[in-house]
Amino acid sequence: MPRKILLDCDPGHDDAVALLLAWGSPEIDLVAVTTVAGNQTLEKVTRNALAVAAVAGITGVPFAAGCDRPLVRPAETAAEIHGDSGMDGPVLPPATTVLDSRHAVDLIIDTVMAAEPGEITLVPTGALTNIALAVRKEPRIVERVREVVLMGGGYHVGNWSAVAEFNIVIDPEAAHIVFSEPWEVTMVGLDLTHQALATPAVERAIAAIGTGPARFMGELMDFFRESYRDAQGFDSPPVHDPCAVAYVIDPTVMTTRRTPLSVELTGTHTLGMTVADFRSPHGEDVHTKVAVDLDVDRFWALVLDALERIGDPAA
Ligand code: BDR
Ligand code: CA
Repeated sequence: MPRKILLDCDPGHDDAVALLLAWGSPEIDLVAVTTVAGNQTLEKVTRNALAVAAVAGITGVPFAAGCDRPLVRPAETAAEIHGDSGMDGPVLPPATTVLDSRHAVDLIIDTVMAAEPGEITLVPTGALTNIALAVRKEPRIVERVREVVLMGGGYHVGNWSAVAEFNIVIDPEAAHIVFSEPWEVTMVGLDLTHQALATPAVERAIAAIGTGPARFMGELMDFFRESYRDAQGFDSPPVHDPCAVAYVIDPTVMTTRRTPLSVELTGTHTLGMTVADFRSPHGEDVHTKVAVDLDVDRFWALVLDALERIGDPAA
């Protein structure tokens, strides 16, 4: 049975790849897509999500826009990584999907409550604002969700400060809510995603597919390569968000370690840090895990297979 996922995202170059991977994988049943302000404004990331849907021919999946700012703090974007549009590089096609009229928070709640208990996996790849608000509005989603597999954080590394990752630090209070609820949370953080580099060899393999969606992804990666080089000194860009989807497709594509996780909410230099406690082995009573090591070749094979399966919807 394919795993039913709701992708809560802020496209974003790597969010776009997460969406392509989810749509092109037979192991995944993409039941809804929600957007949240982060990489760019809510308006832009929502437009970008619909552009990806148009490129990949995604149909029959509701898309809904969510929160336009964090719970407590002023909105912060990542234009130096994702550009003015939030997905600079390719020409973005017009939307072919009409947005769902519900707020993302309500679509999340409706999706989880309408499904069987344990059926829906939430895959947030942006700030956790929508998910946190959904928990506060309908606490019963916590026991009904199968698990939360999120891209965010890092237990040894930051990218928006020395110790904090963008998705967590822009809305740490939301992250605190999501990490504190007693559902199963897998944090696919920078420790893992910095292994998922779109190297020149990966880019050549994408180009060889030769379809519209593959060209689109190639153009995204070209821009991403330059911004990650200029802003963060990477030779090849880390493609964070599809790693969370890959874990749902096949958990053996990475190793994980069970550990308590806390989000720093008050630190002078450590705001938004995700603090893992590795001091002793932890059992199933601990509901949080961190991703550790990625099988890089298998990860990229999943992405390439998904692109092949998507084919050329516009042709
Ligand atoms: C995360 O931040 C965003 O810029 C990316 O889309 C990814 O979700 C990486 O820190
Ligand atoms: Ca993202």
